[in-house]
Amino acid sequence: TLKKIIITIDGYSSCGKSTLAKQLARKLDYVYIDSGAMYRAVTLYFLQNRIDWTTTSAVVAALKDIHLEFVPNSLTGMSDMYLNEENVEHMIREMLVAEKVSEVAAVKEVRDFAVAQQVKMGARKGIVMDGRDIGTVVFPHAELKIFMTADITIRVERRFKELYAKNKQISIEEVKQNLELRDYIDANREISPLRKAEDAIILDNSHLNLDDQLELVMQWVEDATMAHSS
Ligand code: CDP
Ligand code: CDP
Repeated sequence: TLKKIIITIDGYSSCGKSTLAKQLARKLDYVYIDSGAMYRAVTLYFLQNRIDWTTTSAVVAALKDIHLEFVPNSLTGMSDMYLNEENVEHMIREMLVAEKVSEVAAVKEVRDFAVAQQVKMGARKGIVMDGRDIGTVVFPHAELKIFMTADITIRVERRFKELYAKNKQISIEEVKQNLELRDYIDANREISPLRKAEDAIILDNSHLNLDDQLELVMQWVEDATMAHSS
């Protein structure tokens, strides 16, 4: 029988990581874990409770009061992010959170808090996790690592469409600035910056539709599974 593997997907913001991860999870009957949702939920908590994340003692104290959980949603077939028993799946996608999340995610204590939980979730294999440091830090021994990218104008268009559907006030300029700022902070922070793992395969999906992308990656999954099943 074929072994289950760990698949990591890292890359820039809004290049389609979570879309691909969900496609794979459905097709393979794997668990999908959105590591970014954890950083977004911590950011939401810090904003709601006016925590000063530039002060270590404040961060350490606040993290003790944060309980994160992925709860399966039977409608979507995926999981929703719960922050202290409240479903925050929608709230964490808002611009207010997006504006601050990269600052919060650069804080060492926040990363230690999130990574420790992510490592535990990988214990059973059969998972797809997307983020920025999954192939480099969280699962350095993952059987299949993908590093995703796409042209910035295409990424801005994709994210703008999503946000505009929910909020007509949003401007394309605002979305562009947010993506560029987050990419810059994420790639240049001291701890676990966004990097392609040496053994990651690059997937530039600027000109790939969702079906073609899935077909291509399923081949990689098959190869990685075979290589680890003998
Ligand atoms: O979906 P999108 O690309 O907009 O971002 P996300 O995956 O929800 O992640 C939001 C932010 O969390 C990123 O811009 C990073 O600052 C941070 N993040 C991280 O530092 N490490 C991860 N493994 C995942 C996300
Ligand atoms: O998770 P990440 O922030 O990397 O991106 P996403 O939320 O999965 O994708 C952002 C948007 O790009 C979604 O609306 C996808 O449907 C779209 N997309 C696309 O149009 N073509 C692709 N090949 C991949 C994603």
